[in-house]
Amino acid sequence: MTPDSIRSNAYPVGKTSPEGPLLAIESSCDETACAILAPDGTILAERLISQEDHAAFGGVVPEIAARAHLALLPDLARKTLESSGLRRSDLSAVAASTGPGLIGGLIVGASFGKGLAIALGKPFIAVNHIEAHALSARLPGVFDGQLLFPYLLLLVSGGHCQCLAVEGVGHYRRLGGTIDDAAGEAFDKVAKMLGLGWPGGPALETLAREGNPTAFALPRPLKGRAGCDFSFSGLKTAIARQLEPFGSAPLPRQVAADLAASFQQAVADVIRDRVTHALAMMERPTALVAAGGVAANSVLRACLTGLAAEHSLPFVAPPLRLCTDNAVMVGWAALEICREAARRDLPVPDDRAMRPRPRWPLAEMAGRFEPA
Ligand code: KG4
Ligand code: ZN
Repeated sequence: MTPDSIRSNAYPVGKTSPEGPLLAIESSCDETACAILAPDGTILAERLISQEDHAAFGGVVPEIAARAHLALLPDLARKTLESSGLRRSDLSAVAASTGPGLIGGLIVGASFGKGLAIALGKPFIAVNHIEAHALSARLPGVFDGQLLFPYLLLLVSGGHCQCLAVEGVGHYRRLGGTIDDAAGEAFDKVAKMLGLGWPGGPALETLAREGNPTAFALPRPLKGRAGCDFSFSGLKTAIARQLEPFGSAPLPRQVAADLAASFQQAVADVIRDRVTHALAMMERPTALVAAGGVAANSVLRACLTGLAAEHSLPFVAPPLRLCTDNAVMVGWAALEICREAARRDLPVPDDRAMRPRPRWPLAEMAGRFEPA
């Protein structure tokens, strides 16, 4: 990390930042979202639809998601523009998540964004969805002060579970991640076993409030191991084993609540341990940041707040609506990319030629700023 990569996140509206507002699109999973941001990061409008068609299947069905994005996006973009009070011609750039994620949805969002950018004669900025989560904590107003690089990001969602050293825009070092399920996936699967709806995380947290977190002795997978990888599949199996004696009989509510509370506590304990290791793998991090749907969990948040305090670090988590998938973070990441380009005397990027990618390793993001 170079000293000049430690910079303020107060956004200077510079020569190569977009001169006017930018429209951002998110469509990598089951949220269809649009946002309009001013060049300084002020949110001028945001709209989001969480697709409900997947609940009956107990998980996101990629083909249904892609079709729903296609049906929803044009109207959502129009309404977002309307609520910002702007006209289409006022937009200076268009950004969209172009990976990683479900390819059908990514193609819909990227094609829509590119089409609009071409029609307007403005640049299209391709945003890596994970990069957008990683930078979302720097959105103006999220942190009281300036969130400087490098910080530790714990990304815990339905599809991702990893620790990243965020060292600068385009500079992300993966310290560790899950070797099986993502944390949210584990919450969803256990919730399903307990007869709760989907997505299971919020329902499980609600039920756990009635339960005793020490009622069941559940394993703490990988706790104490070197590095900061995660594993949740053993916990899921342990819950299944506890359920065996009940067979197909309805589960008594108190048992379900005790299992939910014990599972939630085990996840929080394991994450605390893994994040402690991740902090030790970084040189002087400025903050502990959490993002992704599971970062909404209050037991986990309390646990991470305590951990950060022990390390004399602030704990930063974007508000819930910006923790889960959204278009504001996509727009903000695009602005950060433009600012980094400006710092390097590069023009606003135009990624019209870039194809959506179901996999898009963060390690490739630095290449954007390297000379061609
Ligand atoms: O980030 P997100 O909205 O979507 C992606 O997966 O990218 O995360 C959704 C995940 C789901 O697995 C959901 O069950 C979990 O986040 N989740 C929670 C809570 N709220 C959402 N898990 C635990 N506790 C919660 N309060
Ligand atoms: Zn996400």
